[in-house]
Amino acid sequence: MPAIKFYKHEPIPMEMHKVKIVQQLNLLPADERLKKMYDAGFNTFQLHNGDIFMDMLTDSGVNAMSDLMQSATLRADDAYAGSETFYRMQAKLEEIFGMKYCLPAHQGRACENILATRFVEEGKCVIMNYHFTTTKAHITRLGGHVEELVKDEGLVSKSTLPFKGNIDLEKLEACIQKETPENVAFIRVEAGTNLIGGQPISYENMKAVTDIAKKYGILTVMDASLLQDNLYFIKIREESMKEKSIREITRMIADLFDIVYFSARKFGFARGGAILLRDEELYHSMEDLIPMFEGFLTYGGMSVKEMEAMIVGFDESMEMDVISQGPQFIDYCVKQLDAYGVPMITPGGGLGAHLDAMDICSHIPQEEYPAGALVCALYLCGGIRGMERGTLSEERNPDGSERLSSMELVRLAFPRRVFTLSQTEYVIDRVKWVYDHRELIGGIHFVHEPKTLRFFTGLLEPTSDWPEKLVAAYKAEFGEDQ
Ligand code: F0G
Repeated sequence: MPAIKFYKHEPIPMEMHKVKIVQQLNLLPADERLKKMYDAGFNTFQLHNGDIFMDMLTDSGVNAMSDLMQSATLRADDAYAGSETFYRMQAKLEEIFGMKYCLPAHQGRACENILATRFVEEGKCVIMNYHFTTTKAHITRLGGHVEELVKDEGLVSKSTLPFKGNIDLEKLEACIQKETPENVAFIRVEAGTNLIGGQPISYENMKAVTDIAKKYGILTVMDASLLQDNLYFIKIREESMKEKSIREITRMIADLFDIVYFSARKFGFARGGAILLRDEELYHSMEDLIPMFEGFLTYGGMSVKEMEAMIVGFDESMEMDVISQGPQFIDYCVKQLDAYGVPMITPGGGLGAHLDAMDICSHIPQEEYPAGALVCALYLCGGIRGMERGTLSEERNPDGSERLSSMELVRLAFPRRVFTLSQTEYVIDRVKWVYDHRELIGGIHFVHEPKTLRFFTGLLEPTSDWPEKLVAAYKAEFGEDQ
């Protein structure tokens, strides 16, 4: 673990790698960013990467590969059927998770499509700690509904709780009884919980949840997309797990569940996904869906080069020195901003630093998307691209009214092994400036609103000329060229 001690300096997070290849960054002047923001319909998904200085939209598919991952791509075995690369990948996953069967898919949501198609039908319920956007979309598409049973404390922005992603066990029993066990398609545990700030779930809670599921004969599914951060938190925050290795913890977790799936755009530092199973019958019950939606069973829509890289990436995800990086940088960023008085989700979780837009932009009604407006302000004031995780990322109720999100977050993702500490300092500095000028930020509204997953492709406009006023104040502070 990079707990490097300093002689004169306070401890700071250390990069446990060195840079071998770089990508030049481009900082557009503020006036140009203003134009780009209008062109992008005030939606950071619509910005072009070349117009962005710090791309903190996501950690999905943008983590830096290691030299060993890159070199492994050369051994990729291209074959429509029976690729040796697939068998190597399957063997590595079995070594780590102890699950024999592997259904490959092109990314995490493809796994969700397969699982929902197999298990969800009209009226069925899927219980989880908290939903993820694509997970929920696949469940509701098929007429199912989602019950989110994260403990109430998980939704409190400022906290010292180590595992805010934990499921409330009393609510779980009550929900199973209300729905009846037969009507619960499966219980899904997301480790860690993306939409509430990358907050982890403890091993103890996973064990208790899966014990209850077993009692009622309900299938259990682990979404391991963000597992590497969660493993780090279990090791350092859960007393009974301190002496266990990351591999041991991973295996103990996998042993609890019937199914594990993941996005390899996150877990494994490459691009792809897979569903892992222990039970042969379950495997056969889904195998036909892979060639139908993804590709043949030995590549599932993935490039074999990526598969070779991820095999090495899976091993790297079992290294404490590697998986400590993300959470430690996030923790640093959260603590500095918290000390500056900026409302943050605390404690820092995995994935990224999360700003509490409900508090920062309390003057903007939720129907005018405070987190959506704040994320635009951060691009205007520093070229930082984050992601809205609030009402804008929800879908409307059937009657057309807004489904107001319980949290309004701006996520600044920390893709692994990508940014340095000085870049992190820049982000902290600009966020603080935006916070100090938050009264200048106004709302945004849709001018083009897709029905499903509207945050990806929707186009919006500011409700007034607040972006011009904000940029004018920014230029007065930092000059024309920043
Ligand atoms: N589950 C979780 C917990 C995720 O965070 C994601 C993706 C998925 C499933 C879907 O995986 O993108 O490979 O299809 N999260 C990305 C993000 C998109 O930016 O947080 P995917």
